[in-house]
Amino acid sequence: MRISVIGCGYLGAVHAACMAKLGHEVVGIDVDKDKISELSSARAPFFEPGLEELLKEVQETGRLTFATDMAAATRSTVHFVCVGTPQKKGENGADLSFVDAAIASLVPHLAPGDLVVGKSTVPVGTASRLSEVLAEAQPEAHLVWNPEFLREGHAVSDTLNPDRFVYGVAGGSEDHPAVAILDDVYGTPLSSGTPRLVMDHPTAELVKTAANSFLATKISFINAMAELCEAAGADVTRLADAIGIDDRIGRKFLNAGIGFGGGCLPKDIRAFMARAGELGADQALTFLREVDAINMRRRTRVVELARELCQGSLLGKRISVLGAAFKPASDDVRDSPALSIAAQLQLQGAVVTVTDPKALSNAAKRFPELHYESETSKAVAKADALLLLTEWDEYRSLDPYELITSVSAPRILDGRNVLDAAKWRAAGWQYRGLGRP
Ligand code: UDX
Repeated sequence: MRISVIGCGYLGAVHAACMAKLGHEVVGIDVDKDKISELSSARAPFFEPGLEELLKEVQETGRLTFATDMAAATRSTVHFVCVGTPQKKGENGADLSFVDAAIASLVPHLAPGDLVVGKSTVPVGTASRLSEVLAEAQPEAHLVWNPEFLREGHAVSDTLNPDRFVYGVAGGSEDHPAVAILDDVYGTPLSSGTPRLVMDHPTAELVKTAANSFLATKISFINAMAELCEAAGADVTRLADAIGIDDRIGRKFLNAGIGFGGGCLPKDIRAFMARAGELGADQALTFLREVDAINMRRRTRVVELARELCQGSLLGKRISVLGAAFKPASDDVRDSPALSIAAQLQLQGAVVTVTDPKALSNAAKRFPELHYESETSKAVAKADALLLLTEWDEYRSLDPYELITSVSAPRILDGRNVLDAAKWRAAGWQYRGLGRP
């Protein structure tokens, strides 16, 4: 199958490489010349485990090329739209200008029978609006909404072996001609039993936002329990273990800590609320406002706890922040709770040093006023308090006995509840978790 992938950001670059891995002939198209030149040399413009190796492997086969000109899409039958839908500036809604621009520049190159497959996360109703644009330009092309559920840090395996495929087609019928074509595209994972659900456009669009809202709600639920545990002197990690054994609840996404961030969950729940308001169904999603508020409260709580650890004042205290990425195995700092806490501590008078195995250059672009140090040993030297805010393996396995000799005062705030509190205390540290006694 000849495939074009429009938009080579996180989603598109991974999708293009994975489609070539599945045996298709793929062209990745993006207006960003630098990004295309990096990808053409098999370099990933961001850190994602396994991606660079995959880019090298498939480029050697000649099945993956990149271009900045949309005319490169002409020879393809399936066109995946993978552009970003960020939060609008100063508003909760999603900015669809990249999707609209991609479709407008793609339609002149469409042939009868082509498939335009939207993968970006969009507000419900977008596919039906875009169908009209398509019908006018090329009435014999089809629009499918095929949301992507990949997680950063696992993007390659999530794309090659997803939990499920969702095809949103006009009318929602299995007999729609687009279904067979997309089945060919995903032939390999489908043959190994990956479930595939066909539905109408609005349902497919809602599947993605509903899934992300559920995950965000689960995290905020356990963080609300952490607030309660702190008030009652209970331990939220044991509570999560106990309720998570019930498989109706499940233990995954019940890790209390500094809350969720990244390029998806925060903006997706906000765009979902904004869209519900436009549809006159805002009441249905008012709970997401609380989910967002609980999440943001975590950041303030950590700043307060850091102040408590530093005997009531942050002024002039040397604080080392372990982790800048919004989660481990990623260099993404978009809406990173770790970085936002680091910036807040600095604003309140602390002398903050941030370290991270992969995200420092992205962090420095976003918060140039913070001090960055790539080596953990240097970052923690003479610290008055350590804050573990992104649970990279190398921070989980830090040796409290060794570390105590470097710091100025042995105090640690475990923002992800991943350290063995007893072990750290036994080594002489003042340990604070979140929602733990
Ligand atoms: C998310 C969805 O998981 C994915 O399906 C969708 O396609 C895109 O958005 P991602 O943003 O990569 O993926 O990160 P995810 O692994 O979901 O984590 C999101 C945030 O929640 C991170 O900041 C993480 O640290 C936090 N988190 C996760 C918790 O605080 N507690 C948990 O138990 C789990």
